[in-house]
Amino acid sequence: MAPVVPHILRYESLASTNTTLKELSRSGAQAGTVILAKQQTQGRGRTDRSWSSPQGGLYFSLLLKSDQMHRTTDLPLLAGAVLSHTVKRTLPSHLSIGVKWPNDCLLEGRKVGGVLCESTGDGRDAALIIGVGLNVNIPATQLVAFQERPFKATSFLECSPGKVFDLDAILQAFLGIFFQAHEKYMDKGFRFLQNYWEKECLLIGREVELKNTGLNQEKESSTGSNRGRFLGIDEQGALVLSKAEGDRQHFVTGELTCCW
Ligand code: BTN
Repeated sequence: MAPVVPHILRYESLASTNTTLKELSRSGAQAGTVILAKQQTQGRGRTDRSWSSPQGGLYFSLLLKSDQMHRTTDLPLLAGAVLSHTVKRTLPSHLSIGVKWPNDCLLEGRKVGGVLCESTGDGRDAALIIGVGLNVNIPATQLVAFQERPFKATSFLECSPGKVFDLDAILQAFLGIFFQAHEKYMDKGFRFLQNYWEKECLLIGREVELKNTGLNQEKESSTGSNRGRFLGIDEQGALVLSKAEGDRQHFVTGELTCCW
């Protein structure tokens, strides 16, 4: 497979980089197209939430086509692990950084970034948009968007006051790490991704709680909450919880929190 070459299109302000890239994809944009905006006025997050996107954050979307993935469902996990890897490369090593299932990035126990993947087109035109948001040079006073959630928001600036981070360098680092990991994933398949993702995750082996879950065995969702030891992800990317010795449950949806 020919390597994907990233091609960055820069904007001052967009409603949502994912939305713009979806439109460009429909009119024939190539794999590797990246839409970057300094701010978004209608940034979107997972589960129909909004994504607060003031100037100072990093907001971009990357286009991949269907022949650049084994399964669409793998890429959100890959992007989440790469985001955590990128943040680790950028910030001092004493900080605790890792991916939270499926693809949030935690910094010192708080959410610093996230990934929204959206499919578009079908058949030979099928494509995946990987949208990434990262709270970089954003002061604590502006981090209001997630304050009601179990994992409150943070930013690079909150953890390193007074330092201004180079957004372009972070984007380049992400793309470099992404395409290296992507090549291994295309070559070795999900097994590579599972190991890579689990290495980037700080919560494995910890007692966690999963709310609003969907159990894949039952193919139905419930609004209940489940506590147990987080064992990792299975070959479908589902979260595996052990509630008691020998008992394992696999969840395809849910909001993970940690029982400290
Ligand atoms: C999440 O809910 O954790 C995912 C947030 C993803 C936000 C990014 S910012 C760039 C791209 N454009 C959007 O509208 N959303 C994604």
